[in-house]
Amino acid sequence: MTQPAVSHHLSHDISPEFAAAVRAGLCKQPQKELPSKYLYDEVGSALFEVITALPEYGVTRSEERLLAEHASDIVAQLPHDAIVAELGSGSGRKTRRILEALCKKRPTTYSPIEISRTALQLCRRELGDIERISIVGYERDYLAGLAEVSKRRAKDEPLLVLFLGSTIGNFGRLAATRFLRDIRNMLAPGDALLLGTDLEKPVPVLISAYDDPIGVTAAFNLNLLARINRELDGDFPLDAFEHVARFNPDVRSIEMHLRAKRRVSARVRAAKLTVELQEGETIWTESSHKYRAEELHAIADDANFTCSHQWIERDWGFAESLLVAR
Ligand code: TRP
Repeated sequence: MTQPAVSHHLSHDISPEFAAAVRAGLCKQPQKELPSKYLYDEVGSALFEVITALPEYGVTRSEERLLAEHASDIVAQLPHDAIVAELGSGSGRKTRRILEALCKKRPTTYSPIEISRTALQLCRRELGDIERISIVGYERDYLAGLAEVSKRRAKDEPLLVLFLGSTIGNFGRLAATRFLRDIRNMLAPGDALLLGTDLEKPVPVLISAYDDPIGVTAAFNLNLLARINRELDGDFPLDAFEHVARFNPDVRSIEMHLRAKRRVSARVRAAKLTVELQEGETIWTESSHKYRAEELHAIADDANFTCSHQWIERDWGFAESLLVAR
């Protein structure tokens, strides 16, 4: 039996920014692409939460262990009386340890910056009960949100920026340094950035972290096409695509793609676009670069920070680096 059309999915306001990004990305030659930030709608954010619980995806648990074990040491190295901004808070679960340790010393303002409203709500629910915390969330892009936080702070009030979860790895290497410079330009000397990075590990371990056997990551990736269908009146046949994760040794990153299993022609009406894919052709949706702990010193230097401390979790391989603005 065929399903009736579900028109309530199309009751979304059409985002011109999303439409333009889809159009630009799918017209790229020779490699079509879609910006990874659009993976995180309500469905995508929920699927990502599930990814973080998968045994194959050790990233989040590793960072949680690291922050749980070293919270008081980390907090001891931070600028005193800082307000805290977090770029991409997700559910807020990892951040809890740091905030508890800070709030034990004094009342602390915490500003999660998130493009996902769902994540902001989760984060408020997760962290709202910490004593002496005040949460002021921003539903914004990272840099726009950070500019806002920085503008609103009191004179001489130091700022601690949290950029956890190895999201920096989702930038290309040059773009990562540029992004750190952009952050640095909004900071004053003495402000700090706590930066989480996933470390290099054997390729098969990485592949199963980004292509798990029960297909949650595949669903997470495919949801991007489903979202285009829902929000931009598209007609991508989802069964014609498969999730692919592969390691690119030249830049030490895992690349995620959506591969057409057959020839596909799809329309995205709200983007005024018809797109054709050959059998085997892919849409690149995300890369996750892996780091060596040592290289972070040079990267920090390049962006006018000093890497003053590092904490490393060796079971999975994850580093937290404290970068102080010069
Ligand atoms: N920041 C996460 C990472 O690089 C994002 C992520 C995890 C992801 N699994 C994914 C992105 C699968 C796309 C597809 O680890």
